[in-house]
Amino acid sequence: MSDKVARLALLGSGTVGIAVLRRLAEWQGTPLGDRLRLEFAANTRLALSDPSGVDPVRCADLLPIASHVHRRSHRSDAIKALGKDGIRILIDATADADTAANHAACLSAGIHVATACKLAAGTSLDQWRAIREACARNGSAFGDRATVGAGLPLLRSIRELRAGGDRIHAIAGIMSGSLAWLFHNFDGSRPFSDLVREARDSGFTEPDPREDLSGEDVRRKILILARAAGFEIESHQVDVGSLVPPGLAAVSASDVDASLFLLDAPLSAQLAEAQFLGCSLRFVARLDGGKARVQLEKLCPGDPLHGGAGTDNRVAIWSDRYRNQPLIIQGPGAGAEVTAAALLDDVLHLRALALGIPLAA
Ligand SMILES: NC(=O)c1ccc[n+]([C@@H]2O[C@H](COP(=O)([O-])OP(=O)(O)OC[C@H]3O[C@@H](n4cnc5c(N)ncnc54)[C@H](OP(=O)(O)O)[C@@H]3O)[C@@H](O)[C@H]2O)c1
Repeated sequence: MSDKVARLALLGSGTVGIAVLRRLAEWQGTPLGDRLRLEFAANTRLALSDPSGVDPVRCADLLPIASHVHRRSHRSDAIKALGKDGIRILIDATADADTAANHAACLSAGIHVATACKLAAGTSLDQWRAIREACARNGSAFGDRATVGAGLPLLRSIRELRAGGDRIHAIAGIMSGSLAWLFHNFDGSRPFSDLVREARDSGFTEPDPREDLSGEDVRRKILILARAAGFEIESHQVDVGSLVPPGLAAVSASDVDASLFLLDAPLSAQLAEAQFLGCSLRFVARLDGGKARVQLEKLCPGDPLHGGAGTDNRVAIWSDRYRNQPLIIQGPGAGAEVTAAALLDDVLHLRALALGIPLAA
């Protein structure tokens, strides 16, 4: 085996993990495919492992249909399968907090990590610092471009600006594809709860839409961006204005649908106020002077965040360089395909870093 081939272990075969496997399958026999070898792939029900390479097509076929009976984490099996030699990369396509909490240990063992999961860098500051220190001490690297904006060049732009001596002053953005879709479509012609049902049934929200409406996902995203921008803030330093009224927060998952109407009156009132002013409602995350908040806002024409469509993310960055007119980055910020593409961009980047070669080589 060429020591230029990166050895991969993939955790997760949900929508993102399967899209990663399909992309790897498409690359087989191409120069990109020749740079990578998938040696391990698992969900919580099945692990497939072979040091001479597992077929991504077979993994994509077998993992989703594996028995539900014996669920367990395959994190330590993945680490074992990667062993001690060569360029080793763990791809985290889970939403598993234990896996996220173990990334610093992985990096300390010289295994690079590419992740789509926000629970590693978007939760406690200690965990984020442990990841950075593990990378610095062991020459390993952490790929996180799939965690915010599903690979839109947000983290990359912030890091490149800072590497060029720029200082980030503020960031504001619409960072949740599901909330973007909901508020783009909320014009008063249908109750908000109807739109939530449609978004849930179309797969734009989590099965329990309260997870999106609570703003917690956006809290993690602004934390990840803030820390990359040089503001080492704790999770509790982000003020989050949840959209979930107490009555909806209190019901069990099975009663959520019947209680969604509780969203309607307060949001209709806010919409009427915004429309009276000629503005739109959007769920916005803001970082300014090291302070962060996430909440529903009225955005009026001329606001840098006004615009966009569908599930688009739209983020504005102010810095020394972009002091008056912010840098605007906009595009599809959700979806398995773009997220998987971002994860594999990271994988190729981590391999190139490990070899000390330009990305194209
Ligand atoms: N979907 C998107 O558009 C999107 C966009 C950006 C980021 N993300 C992030 O990407 C990650 C994956 O999202 P998803 O939508 O693909 O999630 P998902 O459909 O819920 O799939 C998660 C997968 O992880 C597996 N898993 C959980 N713990 C594991 C462990 N310890 N060892 C091995 N496998 C484990 C699950 O196994 P089982 O199948 O056995 O349950 C499942 O296959 C999440 O962190 C999400 O926030 C998703």
